[in-house]
Amino acid sequence: MLNDRIKITTGDITAFTGDAIVNAANTKLLGGGGVDGAIHAAAGSQLLEACRALGGCREGASKITPGFDLPSRHVIHTVGPYWEGGDHDESTVLASCYQSSLELAARHDVRSIAFPAISCGVYGYPIDAASEVAIRTTIDFLRSNDIPGEVTFICFDDTTYDAYVRAMKNQS
Ligand code: APR
Repeated sequence: MLNDRIKITTGDITAFTGDAIVNAANTKLLGGGGVDGAIHAAAGSQLLEACRALGGCREGASKITPGFDLPSRHVIHTVGPYWEGGDHDESTVLASCYQSSLELAARHDVRSIAFPAISCGVYGYPIDAASEVAIRTTIDFLRSNDIPGEVTFICFDDTTYDAYVRAMKNQS
């Protein structure tokens, strides 16, 4: 069942023990605050070195590195849109973050992957709209792909968690 392949939890994504976690990065891929800062702190300095070699990442795209000191084997770095009110193609770019991360995960035989709420912190994307995009894009991808087998949305607070649960109900 498709819905069994999607999990929604609260917690710290750096503790995820599956194959890959997704980082909400910026185009420079040289670290930052929020989940980006937490992932770099937990992965250790080798992550920054690996990111330097990637030469940045454009909005909506994704790039992959090892997880180094993290429990997850890989980190998939994606760059979400900065929220400018909703009429600057933000939803298309956000959908592309989930799509490109899942495509990259499938190419690297990632069986289990965790996403934070991309763009919902510093980048200001309203969580209700963002969670709908995340869930819809993921369901569409899983309908035609067996890998990843499982996608977990790790929410850093209850408001985010409740939004993802609502988005899941709205899509079913
Ligand atoms: N685990 C899971 N989720 C987390 C964690 C964590 N350890 N830390 C923060 N979050 C959540 C935030 O609460 C928010 O819901 O991740 C979501 C994304 O927030 P940000 O990390 O601020 O990312 P984003 O809004 O995409 O902004 C990206 O911020 O940190 C910089 O370098 C980053 O420039 C980039 C920008």
